[in-house]
Amino acid sequence: MPKVFVVYLSTSGNTKAMAEAIAQGVSSRNVDVDVMNFHEAKIKDVAAADAIAIGSSTFHYKMLPPLEKFINDLGKAGVKGKTGAAFGSYGWSGEAPVIIADKMREMGIKVIDPVLRIQYQPTDKDLEECKRLGKDIANKVKG
Ligand SMILES: Cc1cc2nc3c(=O)[nH]c(=O)nc-3n(C[C@H](O)[C@H](O)[C@H](O)COP(=O)(O)O)c2cc1C
Repeated sequence: MPKVFVVYLSTSGNTKAMAEAIAQGVSSRNVDVDVMNFHEAKIKDVAAADAIAIGSSTFHYKMLPPLEKFINDLGKAGVKGKTGAAFGSYGWSGEAPVIIADKMREMGIKVIDPVLRIQYQPTDKDLEECKRLGKDIANKVKG
């Protein structure tokens, strides 16, 4: 059975809300999904999933260093050929999800479009877009 892992960094809950909506979209397609803060996630569990979605809000025009380290460690665990997605809430520039998508591609992950960026707190319409992305991820891993 295919498995999707959604991990995120979120300081005030905005990217977390996106992550949970993406996970809802995945499970609505009857695909198994775990969603958690990256601090709680084990590299080996994330690396074992068929698809990996990584979300982060943007701080000082990039992601925070602990998440960057987590993604680098994930790359070393071997994720080539897997499906991926990048997302995140932002305030004014929103670089983090773009940087995440670039890092995923460097590791050989096939990143689904769009890299989903939402300004500040997601609206109901934004959350629908997140669910749509989750459904797309599920459809990819189902083949
Ligand atoms: C100290 C600080 C620095 C920030 N730097 C940026 C930035 O460089 N670019 C940007 O787009 N947003 C920036 N933001 C805004 C956050 O990305 C935004 O508030 C986001 O919605 C937070 O989402 P979260 O609750 O998932 O952490 C910054 C916020 C704080 C508190």
